[in-house]
Amino acid sequence: MEDSVRRRVGEREAQTESATSQTSTDFSDEDLSDSDFTPVSEGDGKVRSGILNPLKVVLILTTALAVFLLFRDQSSFLRTLDEPTGSPVKSSKSSGEGQTGKTVVNGITIWAKEELAKFTGVDEKLPVLLAYMGKVYDVSKGRRHYGPGGSYQFFSGKDATRSFLTGDFKNDLTDNLDGIAESSYGDIENWDNTYSKSADYKQVGVLCGYFYQCVGDKNPGQPTEKLLHVERMAAKSKVDAAKENEIFVEFPQCNSEWSQEKGGRVWCSDKSGGIDRNWSGLPRLFLTQKDGKKSTRCACVHPDKVKDPRVELYPSCPPDADSCKLQQ
Ligand code: HEM
Repeated sequence: MEDSVRRRVGEREAQTESATSQTSTDFSDEDLSDSDFTPVSEGDGKVRSGILNPLKVVLILTTALAVFLLFRDQSSFLRTLDEPTGSPVKSSKSSGEGQTGKTVVNGITIWAKEELAKFTGVDEKLPVLLAYMGKVYDVSKGRRHYGPGGSYQFFSGKDATRSFLTGDFKNDLTDNLDGIAESSYGDIENWDNTYSKSADYKQVGVLCGYFYQCVGDKNPGQPTEKLLHVERMAAKSKVDAAKENEIFVEFPQCNSEWSQEKGGRVWCSDKSGGIDRNWSGLPRLFLTQKDGKKSTRCACVHPDKVKDPRVELYPSCPPDADSCKLQQ
């Protein structure tokens, strides 16, 4: 997840840079052109440059003041963008009702939901757009997926992040991730990569809504409190997944079989659970907890670790048995 977060930060930096350069060009050299320093013609009609006269002094001072004000404004503008975005808006304001069309603020194109809804591919003259995690992408090159008749046409013209994570393409076509299962956060980065790392799809702005602030909000185009929360949860989920992986190496899955006549059986080998190792271990019940729910699985436990508090003997299976029959 760090990658995705880093990329997002990178994107924001890129947008910040473009915003900065755009503003810089607002104050082009023309504004400070030679005409401001035109030599002064004195009473005798001859041009005398190089000699300080009161008018020249006033001109120089005025120019110096203008330059000072210019750089003062620019530096405060940079500071505003470089600084953390202040307190992002709370959820109720980020529904997108306050904005129409699309608006460029500090180089970031902020889309209103009604505007994005026009880009479903039904109008063949328009590109096909969709949003994922509030980032609006031009997916015209994937028209066969997202255009009319495509298997994923319901994703176009909107942000349906929730359905990407739940797989419910009817009820969850929304950007609202409130109350989503903790386990779903692990998938966020994969879908993000589908779009942000694609050579075919280009980001064309952000969507005013759950993830990004709208025009009229405190920091238009910047992440909402909700997005920052989702990013934190996704990062945590990545750490949890790495820890879980470590557990599967330390306590590999057992082999198992089941038949009508014999019932179930679990046993260990030095490759069970897909973990190649120089020990087989003893089959044990292993207690796990995910999304607040407790469950058990069979783990091959190294003899040194049979006292681990997460480990229990299978009922009616001797402690040193390398195979256990499951009770029906
Ligand atoms: C949460 C569940 C799923 C989501 C959110 C999802 C989403 C997507 C998306 C967005 C694409 C287009 C990717 C692109 O633009 O390049 C895609 C392609 C595809 N998906 Fe899914 N998918 C899901 C589950 C499935 C399942 C279960 C299957 C198979 C049974 C499947 C089969 C395919 C196939 C075959 C393609 C490629 C189509 C092609 O290249 O023409 N998807 N999926």
